[in-house]
Amino acid sequence: MISIRDTSFSYFGNDSDRWALRDIDLDIAPDEFVAFLGPNGSGKSSLTRLLNGIEQPTKGSITVDGLSTSDPASLAAIRRSVQIVFQNPENQQVGVSVGEDIAFGLSNIGWPQSEMQSRIRWALDVVKLDAGEDRLVTQLSGGEKQKLALASVLALAPRYLILDESTSMLDPIARKEFVETLRAAREAHPFAMIYITHHLEEVLEADRLVLFQEGRVRRIGKPEELLQDEKLLVSCGLELPFERSITLALRRAGFPVSLSADLQELRGWL
Ligand SMILES: Nc1ncnc2c1ncn2[C@@H]1O[C@H](COP(=O)(O)OP(=O)(O)O)[C@@H](O)[C@H]1O
Ligand SMILES: [Mg+2]
Repeated sequence: MISIRDTSFSYFGNDSDRWALRDIDLDIAPDEFVAFLGPNGSGKSSLTRLLNGIEQPTKGSITVDGLSTSDPASLAAIRRSVQIVFQNPENQQVGVSVGEDIAFGLSNIGWPQSEMQSRIRWALDVVKLDAGEDRLVTQLSGGEKQKLALASVLALAPRYLILDESTSMLDPIARKEFVETLRAAREAHPFAMIYITHHLEEVLEADRLVLFQEGRVRRIGKPEELLQDEKLLVSCGLELPFERSITLALRRAGFPVSLSADLQELRGWL
């Protein structure tokens, strides 16, 4: 469990009135899929930095499975347990080849050399990256690079995986494939997922959506709850997924369209 208690955070210390995060109270369960949503600058990335101990709360406390991120002795364990995949795959790759890239993180945590090869294969299989270990990272497509970034962190068996706009540089096809890869990986090897995106259609299966605004948590709810509140979503800089906005427009006009209507059903109504 991750517990965030009365947490405020400023990049400029206690005396500043420029708060990146204000009064956050939030728990994240070990197997949960939570989405962080909200406009740019609302504090989502800052909170992820607090969760894996890159930054410490200015006020309040954060614990990861009972370990405080403010305790220097716990930081190594916390950073291993909470991993982040960022937006730009190129900033995350450290190896020249695919195998080297995955091996780097494993070496850092002291993975036995004799089990390195099998773990690299394991990670490539989990993300279904169809690339030999010797393939050069520079030869991968954007989508493949992001799968490699995912493989490199999953190899470390994190309990909490943060995806901070990891799909935002991918084209729509690669983005869909990446989301599908994540789903399959979680099914096979459960981990909690904290998913940050501006694309609502990627988080319709989340257990909870957390809506950030100006450093505060504005609302928490299940996707089906929050998706009904179009005004709230728009005020938080989000667009409803295409099918959703049509569904809601039809329902407002009195048609009994089910909330889970897909394009085919909608075509029928239209
Ligand atoms: N390294 C930094 N130094 C100072 N202020 C920062 C830094 N990173 C982010 N901020 C500020 O913190 C606030 C929250 O930003 P951020 O957490 O990046 O939001 P989001 O990820 O939701 O776009 C913003 O006001 C932003 O300008
Ligand atoms: Mg951000």
